[in-house]
Amino acid sequence: MSDVAVIGAGYVGLTTAACLAHLGHRVVAADIDADRVERLNRGEIPIHEDGLPELVTEGLESGRLRFVVGASVAIPDAEFVFLCVPTPQGDDGAADLSFVERVVREIAEHLRPGSVVINKSTMPVGSTRTVQRILSEEGASIDEIGVASNPEFLREGTSVRDFLQASRVVVGCDNPATAVRVSELYAGVRAPIVVTDPASAEMIKYASNAFLATKISFMNAVANLCEAVGADVNEVALGMGYDPRIGFEFLQPGPGYGGSCFPKDTAALMHTARRAEADFPLLQGVIDGNREQHDRMVAKARRLAGGSLAGVDVGVWGLTFKANTDDVRDSPAVYIVGRLLEEGAIIRAYDPAARPDAVDLPGLTRADSALEAAKGVGLLVVLTEWDEFRWIDHTDLADAVLVKRILDTRNVLDAVGLRRRGWEYEGVGR
Ligand SMILES: NC(=O)c1ccc[n+]([C@@H]2O[C@H](COP(=O)([O-])OP(=O)(O)OC[C@H]3O[C@@H](n4cnc5c(N)ncnc54)[C@H](O)[C@@H]3O)[C@@H](O)[C@H]2O)c1
Repeated sequence: MSDVAVIGAGYVGLTTAACLAHLGHRVVAADIDADRVERLNRGEIPIHEDGLPELVTEGLESGRLRFVVGASVAIPDAEFVFLCVPTPQGDDGAADLSFVERVVREIAEHLRPGSVVINKSTMPVGSTRTVQRILSEEGASIDEIGVASNPEFLREGTSVRDFLQASRVVVGCDNPATAVRVSELYAGVRAPIVVTDPASAEMIKYASNAFLATKISFMNAVANLCEAVGADVNEVALGMGYDPRIGFEFLQPGPGYGGSCFPKDTAALMHTARRAEADFPLLQGVIDGNREQHDRMVAKARRLAGGSLAGVDVGVWGLTFKANTDDVRDSPAVYIVGRLLEEGAIIRAYDPAARPDAVDLPGLTRADSALEAAKGVGLLVVLTEWDEFRWIDHTDLADAVLVKRILDTRNVLDAVGLRRRGWEYEGVGR
């Protein structure tokens, strides 16, 4: 079992720390947010992730997991240091590595000889070398400190399961012995391990996210075509998904992808392509098509409201970028609500997990339940596919609204049943 430091206790860092402690390692997780650290040491989990509270409690009680403020405090005993800090989108679309750089400069002098710095944050091709360069600028001996890329593929909402039952573990490192040591950290995870060079490991992460974004945008384009020709995209997806080369996942049409990864990672890959003077018009089409899909939902809402949203009471269901997370970063729902507000709609929104202060849109009112959001509205808009929306009682809903009119951008509601009960229902691609 190894001594591990994890820097950044967000979705990826906290999951990594709790899961590695569960696998038997001794883990110190650091964050700069002192309040978050204090709460974590009390076993309070700041994010919405199934199974994470149990693992954090297990780690704290066993003594294998603790949280500290500041990266350098976590380092002294560590054989492995996972970097899990943000890599947001910079102004030019490139990944902003300033958080990473700050941490590496902070920890360099504290690293033990023989330790390995592991890039788990999503970082563009060349970042393993960048981290090596910063370490040597700070006086760390590159012969004694290893650097590896170990991108993370977990999905928010199922992060613990995705970590412990990973589809694969990717380790990119020039030194085979270091790659083996990093791979061994995952000894309790039954997953194929892909050991490769750093550039390929870094590209695997971006290519995977860009491919998934492409799948979503492709299906949204098919949905739009279905609307034009009178086909039902749900039936089309079912018929396509049985083909093992296609599969069922990511075939659901919707308002476009969002979240803290796909938009920034597709933009960063596009930036990488431009810098390498390698054309990637397919990916540019995916990115452009995604924004058009968000805007298409706004146009649908306007049309349903009779041509103008000014002064229309709109109930909104869902603010997170997908169900089963509290994350609203780059959420299509938040973008669409912002556009509806700009057009003069009066909005009351309900989301079961988005924190009250998470969405800062002037004029937006929050409701405590789905039915409360629907009260007295002229249009109801479903923006996130939370399960509880599927099971809402249609009679209660009809009693709540002023006008029985729904835009279901996630195709989660029973279109046939609602139409039979006199609702004007519009979904996506059906
Ligand atoms: N969220 C996901 O689903 C997901 C999946 C795979 C990969 N990733 C990648 O993982 C990385 C982290 O993403 P996230 O969603 O976990 O971010 P996050 O914002 O949830 O967490 C980052 C944490 O790092 C902390 N931090 C920032 N600077 C610090 C410093 N100097 N020292 C210590 N802590 C510091 C922040 O306070 C925050 O708690 C990003 O590169 C992201 O692209 C994210």
